[in-house]
Amino acid sequence: MTYTSVNPAAFGEVIASFKLASAGEVTENAQIAHEAQRRWAAVPAPARGRVIAQVGRLVEANMEALATLVSREIGKVYAEALGEVQEVIDTCDFFLGEGRRMYGQTIPSEMPDKQLFTFRNPVGSVMIITAANFPAAVPSWYFIPALLTGNSVVWKPAEQAGAIAMAITKLLHAGGVPKDVMRVVIADGESTFAGLEAALEAGFVDKIGFTGSTAVGRKLGELAGRHLQSPCLELGGKNPMVVMPDADVDLVIEGALFAGFGTAGQRCTSLGTLWLHRSIHDSVLARYAEAVSNAAVGDPFADVLYGPMIDEKYLVDHLQNLDLIQPHHRVLGSTGVGQINKDNPRAGFIGDPMAGWFAHPTIVDGVRPGDALYENETFGPLVGVGVFDSLDEAIDLANGHGYGLSSALYSSDPTTIWRFREGISAGMLSINNSTSGAEAHLPFGGNGKSGNGSRQSGIWVLDQFTRWQAMNWDYSGKLQKAQMDVIDLPHDPDFKIT
Ligand code: UN1
Repeated sequence: MTYTSVNPAAFGEVIASFKLASAGEVTENAQIAHEAQRRWAAVPAPARGRVIAQVGRLVEANMEALATLVSREIGKVYAEALGEVQEVIDTCDFFLGEGRRMYGQTIPSEMPDKQLFTFRNPVGSVMIITAANFPAAVPSWYFIPALLTGNSVVWKPAEQAGAIAMAITKLLHAGGVPKDVMRVVIADGESTFAGLEAALEAGFVDKIGFTGSTAVGRKLGELAGRHLQSPCLELGGKNPMVVMPDADVDLVIEGALFAGFGTAGQRCTSLGTLWLHRSIHDSVLARYAEAVSNAAVGDPFADVLYGPMIDEKYLVDHLQNLDLIQPHHRVLGSTGVGQINKDNPRAGFIGDPMAGWFAHPTIVDGVRPGDALYENETFGPLVGVGVFDSLDEAIDLANGHGYGLSSALYSSDPTTIWRFREGISAGMLSINNSTSGAEAHLPFGGNGKSGNGSRQSGIWVLDQFTRWQAMNWDYSGKLQKAQMDVIDLPHDPDFKIT
């Protein structure tokens, strides 16, 4: 089957056309990567670090071209696309030096003439499956540390971002990563799953990394579990932003605008529900609705808050999510709801709405527990708004749906901030900042429905792609038995100061 990737802001423009791989081809790629892994692991880690450095410099040299491709293939606003490529470079910069660290430990033994050590070993061959919304940065959080630590990689990107994935893979190869160590395979979900299942069965895959929906994450988690593997899962979010009465409202508006509608709400870290203290609910909501109504939407190469949906499927999902709006809700934020087109225009739209898949920004006020909009991630330009009376209630509301990826609190009171930090179940929290836009060297990941506790980025991701190996070395010339050959120094347990 052939897949044609088109520009979602100008769908007359074909970006690339490629044959989707069969399940057998997915397995075949896993076998090639599996067979190449030991040779790659035998390359000294500092030399692998130099390869990562070379890749980083190449990505930097190709920054505009890659960002342009990101904007054209998935419709991300160009300034954000540049930021996304920067995140790949930052990830390379962080890990290039790790090749000269990958520290293990030396540990004293309880016995004489014996030494203890730990080493980080690569896990083996890794299959990563990534989403279209962050087609460059998020995959790099997997493949850069995985390659650096001596693993081989098969990367299954989202079909909608196929051309971006192929361009990045070429940069990795040009930077010195052997072709059989870094594979890209584009397949639909069904073939990917079947191919992966067979590859696991055959022992070709030692680790799965997945960024995408909670539903698919559960399936992959089950599959990995059957093979006694723990996957790295980065799943959905219903990220809360809690606004206390002492918040700086200008900051709140700016933060909620970007968190809710940047990337057309298609980030796993996008704002889900804006929780406003009852005393400021009406005034903040009015200002938020005004800011959203005035925001520029349209051509991703223009100065806009957001561009098109990633593709038609994302628009269709968004339109379906609008059915979750109930009679007790109030809708604000635009001159219409749903798809932006000739008959349902958006005031101030930049570009041609008929040429792409564009959606109105939608604020839904009156969200409360029990609503489908409270419980479910919507992954589009839709932000819920709700009300609370106390910090404890806000924390309960923020945790109550079971997602736990990102969160934000706006307050200037240290006690409130610390209480929120202790109470919030999310893996990440922002104080007086957007729920989205995590820096590339902090642990990234979630809890509950947002993930299985795995963390990407920074030093923390090393535990995903390496396994600790413990070594003891006895040079006493005899068998010394741990816990049995105990050394007791003389002491007086009854001693008292008189
Ligand atoms: C995602 O949407 O899968 O923190 C990741 C952020 C980005 C990454 C989002 N750096 O919003």
